[in-house]
Amino acid sequence: MSDSPYTDLTDNGQLRYPSRSVHRDSNTIFRFGLTVRLLHWWIVATFATALLTGLAMGSEMENGNLFHMHVAAVIAMGSGFVVALIFGNTMAVFRFVRDAFLPERSDFEFVARIVSRPFHRTGIRWGKFNLGQKGLAWMMLASLTAIIITGINSWHTDGDAAGPHTTAVIIALILLGVHVFMAVVNPVTRPALPGMVFGRVKRSWALHHHAKWVEDQDRRSARSAVQSQSRTSEHDHD
Ligand code: HEM
Ligand code: HEM
Repeated sequence: MSDSPYTDLTDNGQLRYPSRSVHRDSNTIFRFGLTVRLLHWWIVATFATALLTGLAMGSEMENGNLFHMHVAAVIAMGSGFVVALIFGNTMAVFRFVRDAFLPERSDFEFVARIVSRPFHRTGIRWGKFNLGQKGLAWMMLASLTAIIITGINSWHTDGDAAGPHTTAVIIALILLGVHVFMAVVNPVTRPALPGMVFGRVKRSWALHHHAKWVEDQDRRSARSAVQSQSRTSEHDHD
């Protein structure tokens, strides 16, 4: 009976062995579904298109085609969101936005511990994203908003107000540089990349860096395993 999901749960539905997976055979854990992954890479592709057409255009707006492509890339970026919400997994998109942007208890705990004992290890068990990731996500969103507002302003003045747009682009590129460094170069954080490409990350890495999230995932899988088991046994008794 040790393989039954029931054995992993206490009477009130808590996981008996929080750090252990219900699917013990798996070395990986599910992190991002197809909708979120496609949306993320769509944003990357459209951002790159806006950047390249902007660079090709320079601070002049003489090339109409390039300018149209420049603006179309940004419209395509926004449309990607709408398409993902309508045709993709709507709840997964909302959950991604909540997890990446909204603070949770571990974030407040981190601030409280770092203030009371600066320069000490906080030992925080992070959720899906840590406070640094959330801070960076907010800054990237703010810089993208600034790019769009200054871009529209520059367009209205026929390129005469180009300075703020260029500055906003440079700030966004610095922030994105940090994001890409974390995703591709930093050995501590780069194990997250397979999650955004294939959907799953190594369980051992996730337990080390996002322990609270792994526990929540395990609890959810255990609960749904119990529910489907009880549905099956109800069915058997019918
Ligand atoms: C992700 C979004 C965007 C990125 C990465 C981006 C990037 C750039 C870059 C790199 C340049 C060349 C700047 C220079 O060499 O001085 C540029 C120019 C320009 N962009 Fe954008 N842009 C974006 C969105 C927009 C939007 C939404 C508009 C307006 C509707 C816009 C309007 C312009 C205009 C009018 C210029 C030429 C004059 C200037 O440099 O300000 N851009 N953009
Ligand atoms: C080649 C460029 C990029 C790479 C390699 C990359 C990679 C990644 C990876 C691996 C994650 C998941 C992190 C995790 O599971 O903990 C992620 C998350 C995220 N990405 Fe990107 N990304 C890129 C560009 C962008 C761009 C252009 C944007 C938006 C303008 C963006 C916005 C986000 C946000 C908001 C998150 C969730 C929160 C976070 O981890 O910061 N990314 N990215």
